[in-house]
Order: sequence, then structure tokens, then C-alpha cells
Amino acid sequence: MTTDAVPPGVDPTIPSAGRLYDYYLGGTEHFEVDRRAAELVRMAAPELEDAAWANRGFLQRSAKWLAAEAGIRQFIDIGAGLPTRNNTHEAAQAGASDVRTVYFDNDPMVIAHARSLIVDTPHTIFLSGDLRDPDAILNDPALRDHLDLSQPVALMLVAVCHFIADEDDPQRLIGRYMSEFASGSYLALSHGTTEKTSPVIAEQVREIYEKATEQLHLRSKAEIANLFTGLELVSPYDGAEPGLTHIGLWGADDPEAADSDGSRWAFCGVARKP
Ligand SMILES: C[S@@+](CC[C@H](N)C(=O)[O-])C[C@H]1O[C@@H](n2cnc3c(N)ncnc32)[C@H](O)[C@@H]1O
Repeated sequence: MTTDAVPPGVDPTIPSAGRLYDYYLGGTEHFEVDRRAAELVRMAAPELEDAAWANRGFLQRSAKWLAAEAGIRQFIDIGAGLPTRNNTHEAAQAGASDVRTVYFDNDPMVIAHARSLIVDTPHTIFLSGDLRDPDAILNDPALRDHLDLSQPVALMLVAVCHFIADEDDPQRLIGRYMSEFASGSYLALSHGTTEKTSPVIAEQVREIYEKATEQLHLRSKAEIANLFTGLELVSPYDGAEPGLTHIGLWGADDPEAADSDGSRWAFCGVARKP
């Protein structure tokens, strides 16, 4: 993409989390500044491209499972991102065709791109919103028109909470969202981790994101587990105890083969509100 195609509100001189991720996934929605930053990330941690694909796999398998197996018909996906294919609404509709989805993102580039993609897509809308402002998201009239919050929903927070600083208290934010949802609702979440990565490499990647629109806050498995406080984690794959797992493993037919170097960059889980 050239700077001729800069949507309103987008600064093409600062890398953005959404455009970097798009670059890792082989997309086309990025600027020179994103490509330079992404190449630095690739030099520090070549397996991050694989991590992005593993994360997409988690998103797609969990959304389909939530619709097909857990009976969820309403999805709220915050931090939707730029990917063009097999997004939450498509994966969920593969599980149940009557699923309704509301996406949110705070990046104007993502919003411009996504709205052009989902024109004429039934039961799916895309809104501007910031995860750190739950009151604005939960009271958005378009969300309230589209979904019935007296019925269960799935909240998808996939590869977004590692852009939330400790000062913004991601655990409190998630608690606020889940408190608004009916019993039987679910949280599906993935989050970058420091656990399986050399601290030197994690620091190099973190420093590259220092100069981006969103900074990276990798967390330990215990800190990520705390984000599910008050919820009941489901088993991530056949034969596994309920709990967190690396992103490649969730819902995998062959978990051993799925646990790649990229998969180990993030933990994920799906949990039910009792
Ligand atoms: C790595 S992408 C993940 C996209 C998608 N959820 C997935 O996992 O494939 C992270 C997305 O979160 C968005 N994001 C970051 N911080 C956010 C915030 N505070 N509120 C809403 N969206 C945010 C970014 O703009 C970006 O599109």
C-alpha cells in the first residue's frame, strides 16, 4: 500500500499493531514504516510469523466450537484486526449459520478496511471502540440493536490484551465485560507470553513495539490465567484437563504436532461464565 491510500485518522509514519500483524500474515494493508518494523521483529524472532498463524487457528477453532458445541449465537470480538478471510463471524457461522457478530477495533485503518469487507455480510457489524472503555462499548446503541445481552454471548479477546498495560488493569476490564453478560456466556482469549521465550529476544520485540501505536505487554502464564478469574475454563483438546494451552494446541486434532515454536509465544483459553 502507498501513502496515497491513507484512510482518515491514520498516521502512516508510526507502525500499528494491526498492520504489523497483517504483514506477518502476508496481507497487503501496511506501509513502509510497518514493513521495516516487522522485518526487525522477524530478525529478532523469526517464529512470530508462525505465532500469528497459530493464533488465527485458535480464533477460528474456538469460534466454531463456541457456535457448534457451546450453542453460542452472539459474538463480540474486540481487537478484530485486518485479516481478510476466516474471521470470527465466518468461523462461527460455519458452526451455526444464524450467528450474529459485532466487531470492535480502535485503529482507524482496521475500521476503514473492515467496513469495506463486511458490506452486505448478514448479521455482522463493525464498530469503532476501545477495549479500555467498556462502558462505551457495552452501551453502544448499535451493539444493543444487534445483540440481545439477556442471552449468552462469546467475548473474543484474541491477541489484544497484550496491548493493554498493567495500569489499565486488563483483569478488571474483562471482569467488567463479563459482569454484563448472561450466565452461560464465554470468554475466548489469547495472549503473548514471556514463558517460553528468551528474555533477551522478548525485550528486543518489546522495544520495536515501543515505537508503535500500541505497546506490547507480554505476561506470564499465571498472569494470563488471572484474566479468567471467576470463569470455568474448558478442556482445550480431547483428553486434556480444563485450562490454558499454547495457541496451536487449542482444538487441535494432533496437539503434539501443533506445538510449534510460534505456538509457544502465546497462551489461550476458552472459559464459561457460571
Ligand atoms: C494482533 S491483532 C489481532 C487481530 C485478531 N483478533 C486476531 O487475533 O487475529 C490486534 C488488534 O487489536 C487492536 N487493538 C489494540 N489495542 C486495542 C484497544 N485498546 N481497543 C481495541 N482494539 C485494540 C489492534 O488495532 C489490532 O487490530
